[in-house]
Amino acid sequence: MKKKVLGIILTAVMVMSLAACGGASSSTASTTKSAGSSTASSSTASSGTASKSSSSVITIGFSQVGAESDWRTANTTSMKNTFTAANGYNLIFDDAQQKQENQITAIRNFIQQEVDYIVLAPVTETGWDTVLQEAKDANIPVIIVDRMVNVSDQSLYTAWVGSNFKLEGQKACAWLKSYAEAKKIKASDLHIVDIQGTIGASAQIGRTDPMTEAAKANGWDLLASASGEFTQAKGQEVMESFIKQYSNINVVYCENDNEAFGAIDALTAAGKKIGSDIANGEVMVLSFDSTKAGLTDTLSGQITLNTECNPLHGPRVQKIIETLKSGGTVDKTAYVDEEMFSADTTVTSVTVNGKSYTVTKLTQDVLSARAY
Ligand code: AHR
Repeated sequence: MKKKVLGIILTAVMVMSLAACGGASSSTASTTKSAGSSTASSSTASSGTASKSSSSVITIGFSQVGAESDWRTANTTSMKNTFTAANGYNLIFDDAQQKQENQITAIRNFIQQEVDYIVLAPVTETGWDTVLQEAKDANIPVIIVDRMVNVSDQSLYTAWVGSNFKLEGQKACAWLKSYAEAKKIKASDLHIVDIQGTIGASAQIGRTDPMTEAAKANGWDLLASASGEFTQAKGQEVMESFIKQYSNINVVYCENDNEAFGAIDALTAAGKKIGSDIANGEVMVLSFDSTKAGLTDTLSGQITLNTECNPLHGPRVQKIIETLKSGGTVDKTAYVDEEMFSADTTVTSVTVNGKSYTVTKLTQDVLSARAY
């Protein structure tokens, strides 16, 4: 960490010149260095400085998207429970309130504070090249978690861990196709609306694209798509607007659980019957995440299919950091395994790209065992 070494040299020069004036003290030196704690490797350059005792604490700057969903809350909890003082970490947490500019500011602050690692859960995929180059120039490794970044130079980040959002979308669409076939519902009789996530986020792109492609390939009637920004309030607002525009909606493809909660509220208020019996006038709600609240609605039949997106990334990021710290190499890209949960047993597995995925009929036992 070039910047730290430079800082130490400057500090030493200041201390020596102050000593020459008779004004130097060890507390001056230690105060000057106290902005960020150091990794073991940076301590090699700091022989004789007062901060050496804190050198085993790893300081992490984590820029979180926000608090838009139950999934996000579970993700924040996982990170905070992992990067504790008891585990040897100093976590600097920043909630960006779903705004990329806030994330860029947070990263610049982390660089200023000379953190040991930056962890970024990016709100959208693009727009990161400049600030990640700044982190690279400061020799601070960047770990991307959850959504991806789309950068021209892959060396701007060290590793990424998260969900295969495209596979999630493909699995949900494969399920819908099999379900319609099993129930002998004509493809053109599926009248679908898509409540999308935050536009430009990997989770939105990965879930929207398979629906658009499947609708085209199968002849489904995809009536409309609009962003619900992964929130309950916006999901409800978008659904209310869809209900006003289209009287024949029978499938609501929600790109996360909180949007599904909002859509269910809007459908209920409009007097619609929610469930999987499309042929008899019910409106089917599909969702992603499989949070405890989402699976509660799956058990009751309000959400017919819930495709999992796992938020428990704290220990995964910790493993990456521990490996890097001990000089090991890490996977550049690591996908987590995820399940599917349904309200009934009409479809028990789906196949995507030649691989089969089990669809679990939700039971109270499965729900009770859910960690988040
Ligand atoms: O990036 C993960 C997505 O972001 C989750 O599906 C959603 O709930 C969250 O807000």
